[in-house]
Amino acid sequence: MTNYRPCDLVIYGALGDLSKRKLLISLYRLEKHNLLEADTRIIGVDRLDESSESFTAIAQQSLQLFLNNTVDEVIWQRFSKRLSYLKIDLTDVAQYQQLNAIVDSTNRVMVNYFAVSPLLFKSICQGLHSSGVLTPDARMVMEKPIGHDLKSSKEINDVVADVFHEEQVYRIDHYLGKETVLNLLALRFANSIFTTNWDHNTIDHIQITVGEDIGIEGRWDYFDKTGQLRDMLQNHLLQILTFVAMEPPADLSAESIHNEKIKVLKALRPITPHNVDEKTVRGQYTDGFIKGTAVPGYLVEEGANTQSTTETFVAVRVDIDNWRWAGVPFYMRTGKRTPNKRTEIVVNFKQLPHNIFKDSFRDLPANKLVIHLQPNEGVDVMMLNKVPGIDGNIKLQQTKLDLSFSETFKKNRIFGGYEKLILEALRGNPTLFLSREEIEQAWTWVDSIQSAWANNHSLPKPYPAGSWGPVASVALLARDGRAWEE
Ligand code: BG6
Repeated sequence: MTNYRPCDLVIYGALGDLSKRKLLISLYRLEKHNLLEADTRIIGVDRLDESSESFTAIAQQSLQLFLNNTVDEVIWQRFSKRLSYLKIDLTDVAQYQQLNAIVDSTNRVMVNYFAVSPLLFKSICQGLHSSGVLTPDARMVMEKPIGHDLKSSKEINDVVADVFHEEQVYRIDHYLGKETVLNLLALRFANSIFTTNWDHNTIDHIQITVGEDIGIEGRWDYFDKTGQLRDMLQNHLLQILTFVAMEPPADLSAESIHNEKIKVLKALRPITPHNVDEKTVRGQYTDGFIKGTAVPGYLVEEGANTQSTTETFVAVRVDIDNWRWAGVPFYMRTGKRTPNKRTEIVVNFKQLPHNIFKDSFRDLPANKLVIHLQPNEGVDVMMLNKVPGIDGNIKLQQTKLDLSFSETFKKNRIFGGYEKLILEALRGNPTLFLSREEIEQAWTWVDSIQSAWANNHSLPKPYPAGSWGPVASVALLARDGRAWEE
């Protein structure tokens, strides 16, 4: 066990989906692996009339549901002792006074997890402030959506900043808790073969793909107001991009990492109405098949508005205007109802200037580094090798050097992204969280796309469910003489 300070983790929206599906499960898993401090407590806050006992029963039911009845009785007994519940109408500022009787700010750090819509942030912040329960070491944790554009994101950040200093705010992007995203730091900055071969001199272009075979899964209304650009690209894909593209940070401190990521975001070339059609593709899925099963199109999903023009797929060519990446495009694509779930980065190296094997291999394919983030985390390097044999010319064949993390590190692979991030928030380590400036910079760039689309009145192109987006996405790379990794 460690020597971190115990916490009072207060979850606002404790009866909501995020809390039940993700937070309680992650906390239970941390308990299972003895990663919670002995005196840490979990206080569920919500507007419904529950008691600590009934809240504990609700938590147990959702653990059983989402963990397929694998909850261990001994661990549950330990875990359940940490739980309590407080009924607060989250919109009523006066009711937050009640927290004073429960939270122990002398011996514990108060960690406030806002698992609610940002519309409630203002009253929670005001309630916390006027109750006097906050001390300077209190923290607040929030996650997306942090706005739907730069302006609304600033408004949310301003509301929070009225009560919490920037160092107290932990903004989650759950991709930053994923093992393979973190491994990008190790891969790039602990291996000299990559540190010295990671720029326009050796790299031709980079692809980032985040595809999901699932559709909208009962949250049509929310998704339709958001779209794939804001739901996935503004956050998860841009975060991956910053890890791939940033300069070596001086150390692993939050400040060093944030500074390098911001530099990348600032160097993203804006998309304009003039080039938006050439640099971006929007798609919307129609009926199709996923792994042999027929699935409905976006416009006929449950609760759908049949006139919707929201995109469920987006592909973009990104140029980073700095010394390292001059002339190296990053192609990003993300979509719902792709043939499978796949998150991957492909670094395509440049072709060799001269081919001495042309008698047996006319066009030597360039090396590729393929980083699989999910499922089956691992790294492949595509290389050319001589085919064994003594007869005739040297024959070459492309082979794969592969390192499967799920195989190599079998025993250690027990956590998803949330566990890692909750643990870091409880321990007060902000490195893996997003700074205000990062989020706002990301919105600035994404807004340029959104407004260019609006300006051009462009509509999403249809693609059948079970495909990798509209053909225009293939054309996006084909125009540059390239192709997506399939
Ligand atoms: C969420 C998006 O942030 O990430 C969802 O809102 C998406 O639309 C999800 O399905 C994907 O996360 P993961 O970890 O399954 O890749």
